[in-house]
Amino acid sequence: MSGLNTSYRMSLGDFRHEALDEVGSTNEECLARARAGAASGLWITAARQSGGRGRRGRAWVSERGNLYASLLLINPAPMSAIGSLPLAVAVALHHAVARILPPDGRALEVKWPNDLLIGRKKVSGILIEGEFLPDGRHAVVIGIGVNVRFKPDNPTYPVSCLAEEGASVFPEELFAHLYETMADVLNLWDGGEGTPQVMERWRSVACGLGEAITVNLTDRSLTGRFAGIDDQGLLLLETQDGRVEVISAGDVFFA
Ligand code: BTN
Repeated sequence: MSGLNTSYRMSLGDFRHEALDEVGSTNEECLARARAGAASGLWITAARQSGGRGRRGRAWVSERGNLYASLLLINPAPMSAIGSLPLAVAVALHHAVARILPPDGRALEVKWPNDLLIGRKKVSGILIEGEFLPDGRHAVVIGIGVNVRFKPDNPTYPVSCLAEEGASVFPEELFAHLYETMADVLNLWDGGEGTPQVMERWRSVACGLGEAITVNLTDRSLTGRFAGIDDQGLLLLETQDGRVEVISAGDVFFA
């Protein structure tokens, strides 16, 4: 998308990478760099996080062996287009993981909006955080954790890791693929202008299309049939009386 003097396009050359051994949280580190004036396109990875952050204020266990990566974007899109970014990130991560999984393994799919599943078990987490800097710039951090060698011990949902799915890779190798696929997908997404094209890719890797689902919203649960997503990435839930609910945020559970 481009307005006066505003271009959101990014290509591979706009990205750079700093690999750390240990850090509190790669997301927090990216935000700190943004506050200190860092430009868009900075990837920070860490071998271990001592304070890994998950969604809803949960901790993300971050021992050595898994991938912990965050990408800083500055002014990535108009605010009206940011809602589709989590789905674009899931597409990029899907493409990266697909490159290193054995071809005859269990299905690699994305559960709305952005959980990567293998054989319906979660193998990654994505946490996108943002803040407006004092100079008015919008800093957005895309945090990605992938269970490469290990999975959490006491999960409340089915989990797996890439090693268990037949991929014996180092986190660095997966990251090298992610670096490329993220640049490719963000270029297609183009500050939101290319959202319909990215959503077409999302649909091609979607988990549970047409199935009965429950969506937990903040204040209630809805059940129905997962009818798909619209061109902005909103979930379309067909209820029993034939209405279609359009959902922007929630947790999806399959029947
Ligand atoms: C989730 O709860 O599903 C999201 C987890 C996101 C974890 C990643 S690991 C790299 C980045 N740094 C963090 O502190 N969190 C994200």
